[in-house]
Amino acid sequence: MRVAVIGLGYVGLVTAGGLTEWGHEVIGVDTDADRVAKLQSGHLPLHEPDLATIVAAALANGRLRITDRLEDAILSAHLVLIAVSTTDEQGSWQTRTLLRCLADVVPAVPDDTPVVVRSTIPPLFVKQMTSVVEELRSEAGRQPIPLLINPEFTREGTAVRDFLAPDRVVIGVAADPHGRGAYRLRQLYRRAEAPILVQRAIDACVAKLGSNLFLATKISFANELAALCDLFDASVEEVVGAMAHDRRIGGSFLRAGVGFGGSCLPHQVTDTVRIAQAAGLHAPLLDAVDTVNLRQRGLFVERLAGLLGGELSGRRIALLGLTFKPDTDDLRGAPALAIARALLSEGAVVIAYDPLETAARRAAELVPGMAIASSAFEALDRADAAGLLTEWEEFQALDWTAAARVMRQPILVDGRNALPVARMLAAGFIYSSFGRGTHRPEALDLVASPVGREAALADLGQLGRGIIGATIGEEG
Ligand code: UGA
Repeated sequence: MRVAVIGLGYVGLVTAGGLTEWGHEVIGVDTDADRVAKLQSGHLPLHEPDLATIVAAALANGRLRITDRLEDAILSAHLVLIAVSTTDEQGSWQTRTLLRCLADVVPAVPDDTPVVVRSTIPPLFVKQMTSVVEELRSEAGRQPIPLLINPEFTREGTAVRDFLAPDRVVIGVAADPHGRGAYRLRQLYRRAEAPILVQRAIDACVAKLGSNLFLATKISFANELAALCDLFDASVEEVVGAMAHDRRIGGSFLRAGVGFGGSCLPHQVTDTVRIAQAAGLHAPLLDAVDTVNLRQRGLFVERLAGLLGGELSGRRIALLGLTFKPDTDDLRGAPALAIARALLSEGAVVIAYDPLETAARRAAELVPGMAIASSAFEALDRADAAGLLTEWEEFQALDWTAAARVMRQPILVDGRNALPVARMLAAGFIYSSFGRGTHRPEALDLVASPVGREAALADLGQLGRGIIGATIGEEG
């Protein structure tokens, strides 16, 4: 089938690449000429495992073409998929881009060609979108067209795998005058070994939202459980491990730590609470999900301060990992950025490292005063304490014994419960995580007194070697 995919951001590119893997022919359209030119030569605007490989293969074998010529693409397509952004700079819902895109696409689409919205949309927009499309067709003097939604459930970092092996495919029907739209979309997914559910558009839309809200709820539950485990001196890993055997519960998305970030979960929780509230519906559970999630960041900073004798000012803190999760360069809603800002505002000197240099550079712009190191060891060098904020594989493989030696004092707060307690103790660390207590190797006597902020800053300046964009300023 020939498909036009409009909007070549994260969702559009994964969808386009995935469809070519199933043998479809895809014409990818984007209005950003620079992005189009880069993509045409195989350069992706984002980091996503396996995506560059499948896009390069599809460009080479001709299954994927990239263009900024919208009309050509939609006139020759059997199906038009729209994947433009539906969030604004602050990360809240916005539907302007989608409305503009529909105004360009809908009047020109041949009769019978289904228009499928793959972007995540707010539930209250479903009706508006349906009537806007109807009006655009009638104003253009054209026949009504099938309008469907097809929410994606892919996770950054594993998006290609999630697309090609979905748990389910959800098709939401907003309008299907001759019943052929849903049929064609089913055909598109015939290679997917998963149930295909055809529902009303509003149900499909809320199914997508509900899935993310539930995942967020699981994470906040795990974080509350972790706090209880710390209180009772239990291990959250052991507890969740035992709970997970109950098939009604399961074990996924119950990892405690600094909480969820990203462009989806945080905003969908807060926007849903806000939208419900505006309509007179209090959503106390989701409200609490957000409260717990934000609390985790504060707990992380308190934990560090506690291990440093209550004083962060003048302390040199190494932060490992900046992206909101591993295997992505996405910093949107990343707990690490909020934590770095909080530490800086307490007078700490923060030097961070992320395995993706592009992400680290952008983080330095977003957090003035935070210095960026070019390796984990450079960040850890002479640090008073360290925090792990993204569970990149590289940190699992780090020589933690050597790391303990280069630090001023071997203190690590693991904000992702990513490292084994026994291993960190053997490496000589005072090691704290969430719901797994704080452990000290025997006979380790701390805490060294702070060197003072000025001295720590000067020290950092001298270190120099691989520090990129050391943007330590007054506001730090
Ligand atoms: C999320 C959903 O998982 C996808 O199904 C959905 O398609 C996507 O949003 C979307 O709406 O587009 P994503 O934002 O990529 O995917 O990230 P997640 O894997 O959900 O992780 C979100 C955050 O939760 C990360 O910061 C992660 O570190 C954190 N997390 C995850 C935990 O703190 N604990 C866990 O047990 C799992």
